[in-house]
Amino acid sequence: MDRQLIATADGSKTLLINGLEETYHSKHGALQEARHVFIKNGLNLLDCYEINILELGFGTGLNVLVTFDEYLRNDKNHKINYFGIEKYPILTNEITELAYSELFPDPKVKKIAVGIHETEWEQEVEIDDLFMLKKVKDDFYNIKNMNLPPIDLVYFDCFGARVQPDLWEKELFEIVASKMKSGGLLTTYSSKGSVRRALMELGFEVEKKQGPPGKREMINSWKK
Ligand SMILES: C[S@@+](CC[C@H](N)C(=O)[O-])C[C@H]1O[C@@H](n2cnc3c(N)ncnc32)[C@H](O)[C@@H]1O
Repeated sequence: MDRQLIATADGSKTLLINGLEETYHSKHGALQEARHVFIKNGLNLLDCYEINILELGFGTGLNVLVTFDEYLRNDKNHKINYFGIEKYPILTNEITELAYSELFPDPKVKKIAVGIHETEWEQEVEIDDLFMLKKVKDDFYNIKNMNLPPIDLVYFDCFGARVQPDLWEKELFEIVASKMKSGGLLTTYSSKGSVRRALMELGFEVEKKQGPPGKREMINSWKK
């Protein structure tokens, strides 16, 4: 894939796929978007002690970093088990050039910014006492065959429907839903009407939320 590094509006970097003009994060601020969609409107809405997170797709690892950063700051003392699915891992030089360690003052987050890309695929790795990461190198559709614990929180962070429309249809949401706990939350930056309808048809309770900078709305979906 022909990719280049670009700076986003909050100073954090992301990858742009040349030709498709699709970015891994919002051009209005990669870090701000990750925090708004997946932490403020994701992790921070859950109250349980142990949280199983499923991410589609792992990509640059930025969502692991914002989650770990929040875990370190949060006095709720969560236990987090994080499952990141990714079929097309990014390259070593891209990881270096993204320089995500520079975005986080906490030395523990800085330390894992590159390390999370070096852990073995398919292995459960203890990033911290109460934070486990397992990266799975596979296709999203294979989630149905994966041995996962009941999922509390889904970070649905696929490329946009303009470039991968099939990933925003009922079939994949149904596979993901089958792995979720009742009362679990699926959060995504998208606010497309067709996505909302597909989720509602699957029995989710769908809420529109204020979007991250540059986007009016986003979706939170609760599994009944
Ligand atoms: C929007 S980007 C990732 C964003 C990621 N959460 C991050 O913070 O960098 C979407 C990711 O999905 C991956 N992907 C696309 N199609 C896939 C598929 N069918 N199965 C698994 N991963 C896929 C891409 O390689 C890319 O890393």
